[in-house]
Amino acid sequence: MAYLSNKKEEADRIVLSFLPEESGYDKTLLKAMNYSVKVGGKRLRPILLLSFARMYGATEADAAPFMAAMEFIHTYSLVHDDLPAMDNDMLRRGNPTTHAAFGEAMGILAGDGLLSEAFTIISHQVLKQVALDQIKGIRAAKAFQIIAEKAGINGMVGGQSLDVESDKDKRDVTEDELEYIYENKTSALLEAAMMAGASLGGADEADIELIRKAGSALGKAFQIRDDILDITGDEKTLGKSVGQDEKNQKSTYASIHGIEESEKTVKGLTDEACGYIKQLSGVKNEEEREFVIELFGSLTERNN
Ligand code: IPE
Ligand code: IPE
Ligand code: MG
Ligand code: MG
Ligand code: MG
Repeated sequence: MAYLSNKKEEADRIVLSFLPEESGYDKTLLKAMNYSVKVGGKRLRPILLLSFARMYGATEADAAPFMAAMEFIHTYSLVHDDLPAMDNDMLRRGNPTTHAAFGEAMGILAGDGLLSEAFTIISHQVLKQVALDQIKGIRAAKAFQIIAEKAGINGMVGGQSLDVESDKDKRDVTEDELEYIYENKTSALLEAAMMAGASLGGADEADIELIRKAGSALGKAFQIRDDILDITGDEKTLGKSVGQDEKNQKSTYASIHGIEESEKTVKGLTDEACGYIKQLSGVKNEEEREFVIELFGSLTERNN
């Protein structure tokens, strides 16, 4: 775990280095964007992106802009998720949510700004790589495409849409709908981080597909653990309000299946995810594979 804390520091250093300077007439917007990123978070997606990049021989310099972009997109998804029109949350990462600190309009714009900035950073990196080395350029463009797709209508945004729609209807979701919501609102960005990282190192299609499956299983385990913590967790440790799902009358895996079965499912999905990682055939750096397997395992018992 000391090793994980080094990885988090490394991810923090890289992600924060891409934040915009807070000046000009849009200073308040820039402050709100930077606040939402700086305030904390586990940095799971950039950590995963860098590990998968290194697993296939890419460098920190190849991965850095994509790490920042993934954390910006994830943070934007949280800023918007917390808005009054969505989950209406006041606490995030141990601090007031962005809309609570800067007002609702700035919350909306900070999310928009983070998303656009993510793609600005990536597009600069793609152009830079194309100019230096055609193969690296193609790999960077592939990572770009993966992230764009998984962030949008066939990914996180799609999942969030059914999530809020089913809240609003105040009805129980079917197993198929729940599967769609978890796959898209949560797994998609984890898949994106892992697949984009591996793509930067030139992983082949068979390995990318195994990584997608691993991210899919990991994301579902991660969301079910999040649902469990919303019921059993402690606000201080978690850094966000508990009991929000019940308040919003949201059907979650944990509320439908109960805590005990949910914990078993988390464990089963995590083992499944680790199994896919063990099957990868093109890994160049075995230490990173070992780290990822350990990291997946540690998430089953996370309390924040
Ligand atoms: C929270 O994600 C939203 C879910 C997908 C459950 P994280 O638990 O990764 O949030 P941070 O980045 O650590 O704040
Ligand atoms: C959100 O799921 C997943 C996102 C895409 C933001 P939740 O609504 O359960 O996440 P938390 O509990 O607010 O972090
Ligand atoms: Mg939500
Ligand atoms: Mg929420
Ligand atoms: Mg939650």
